[in-house]
Amino acid sequence: MRLEGKVAIITGSAQGIGEEAAKIFAREGAKVVVADYSAEGGEKTVEDIKNAGGEAMFYKIDVSDYSACEEMIDRTVEEYGKLDILVNNAGITADGFLVKMSEEAWDKVIDVNLKGVFNCAKHAAKAMMKQGGGAIINATSIVGLYGNVGQTNYAAAKFGVIGLTKTWAKELASRGIRVNAVAPGFIQTPMTDAVPEKILGKMEAKTPLKRLGKPEDIANAYLYLASDESSYVNGEILSVDGGLVLG
Ligand code: CAA
Repeated sequence: MRLEGKVAIITGSAQGIGEEAAKIFAREGAKVVVADYSAEGGEKTVEDIKNAGGEAMFYKIDVSDYSACEEMIDRTVEEYGKLDILVNNAGITADGFLVKMSEEAWDKVIDVNLKGVFNCAKHAAKAMMKQGGGAIINATSIVGLYGNVGQTNYAAAKFGVIGLTKTWAKELASRGIRVNAVAPGFIQTPMTDAVPEKILGKMEAKTPLKRLGKPEDIANAYLYLASDESSYVNGEILSVDGGLVLG
């Protein structure tokens, strides 16, 4: 039990990587707040966790809403008494070439993928400071390290998340809060289902391990960064991409 007695919020946990992370965290002993705007998927994640003997609650949230994020942190502390781990996993795409990208597509991806991380971390950090420590894990992407054709908005947000991670790692360390990020490559989730087959095939071929990632590949990296096994890891951007960064 690597997270025995810990309380964790995982955003975007109604499906994909977040869902897998919520299940793994619960299996490792954490009480998990399954935070997502999709009630259907979120409730299902909670039900699966409870059926497996774990503890979890669903919290409906749009992470781009500043005050809703504050309420979520308050509610978590009310319900479970504290907050040890925040995984800023929620993210969306609205891909398109620069010259075709609408202002709306830019705004919504920045609001969820960048501002959403600020909104949750700001209020979580306050709660963690009061109790003397915690761990924040942010989802960036290989796209946040190298850019990607058709992802102006997403790349900007994910580059931004790396900046937030390094800044908070310096700023919050003295308060016992570690901040790290995971940079997934191409992982088999509903998000990549929307990518044209031809492009996914190219990415797979460029990956030295010759396969797309699975949600648990990323969830296990979150688990490591959330657990005490990584107690001297701070400000790290951990690539989990089958070696695609090398290509
Ligand atoms: N590399 C190089 N050239 C590309 C390209 C790429 N990745 N994508 C498109 N092009 C070029 C090609 O020349 C293509 O012509 P062909 O038909 O000869 O291949 C031309 O652009 C036109 O492409 P589309 O017909 O696809 O143009 P579109 O306007 O319909 O769609 C697009 C553009 C939305 C960017 C689409 O190509 C697309 O969805 N690309 C995938 C973007 C992507 O990789 N998203 C990752 C999402 S997963 C994620 O974000 C998770 C994570 O963290 C990794």
